[in-house]
Amino acid sequence: MPAITASAPGKIILLGEHAVVYGRPAIASPVNEVRASVSIMAEPLSPPGAVRIIAPEINLNSWLHDLQQSHPLHLTITSVLDFLAIKRIQSCTVRISSTIPVSAGMGSGAAVSVALIKALTAFLGRSISEKQTCDLSFEIEKIYHKTPSGIDNSVVTYGRTIYFEKGKEIDQIVVPQPFELLICDTGIPSSTASVVGDLRSAWLEQPEKIEILFDRVGELSRKACVAIETNKIEELGGLMNENHSILVQMGVSSSELDHLVEAARRAGAFGAKLSGAGRGGNMIALINKATSEVVSQALFQEGAKRVIKTCVQARKKETNEDDR
Ligand code: MEV
Repeated sequence: MPAITASAPGKIILLGEHAVVYGRPAIASPVNEVRASVSIMAEPLSPPGAVRIIAPEINLNSWLHDLQQSHPLHLTITSVLDFLAIKRIQSCTVRISSTIPVSAGMGSGAAVSVALIKALTAFLGRSISEKQTCDLSFEIEKIYHKTPSGIDNSVVTYGRTIYFEKGKEIDQIVVPQPFELLICDTGIPSSTASVVGDLRSAWLEQPEKIEILFDRVGELSRKACVAIETNKIEELGGLMNENHSILVQMGVSSSELDHLVEAARRAGAFGAKLSGAGRGGNMIALINKATSEVVSQALFQEGAKRVIKTCVQARKKETNEDDR
């Protein structure tokens, strides 16, 4: 039997991170240039039910039963088996690899969960809807940080640009023309759990002040949705710039991120901001064909560890989605 494989993309947040945890809208896009991949191979000669997990990027080579029950990979596999009411799995080797930078705000944990859910259900000969995949991966997200909004697992599951509000149906965004961004890695690891936790402490101490910032971000996301849908890319850039200033006021940026954001703007980007939890990880710069090279060079000159060029794909309004 050949190996069963599945993959899922990385992600960026165009607008609205952090505020989205508190119910404000945000916009996210998949990044297909980096992906998590899972392949599952039956091992008929292994003891019954034995599952070997090999994930070289995190130095993992272990039997499933030797992993702690709270380990995200253990939890993903057992929650798929529970969901499908399958008591015993055929012996197999699960190989996980990923080109998505870890702890960099690009959704690597969510992408591994989604790819694993998809590969495992296919290996078990069952099918699962995107909505069910999204719901299962949301439960795994809670291990990474306690109060996920659900935006990361949603954008990674659906693989398209989404307008997301916690607890609501995901809205499709019409993207009349594709547009390009550079994703620039500071090389500084960022822990979503600790940044989200610090902001929660600030919110508990000064709720009125922080709520005003969340409201302003929510308003920017709404305007950005209109700017995208009417192909006003320069306007989108301005909204990204404003969003970054508010993220600075929330205390989730860093001198390195601010420096790269400034460098991108000076070199001609329409707009630039941190993307994801912040304090490290990645920033994004909205560019076009004419500015792409010069902005990329400026970012490397100012300390970027890696720059990925990505494209937000054009998308028409869909009328029939199977699981909405
Ligand atoms: C992380 O990619 C985005 C945050 O808003 C957290 C979340 O939405 O769960 C910082």
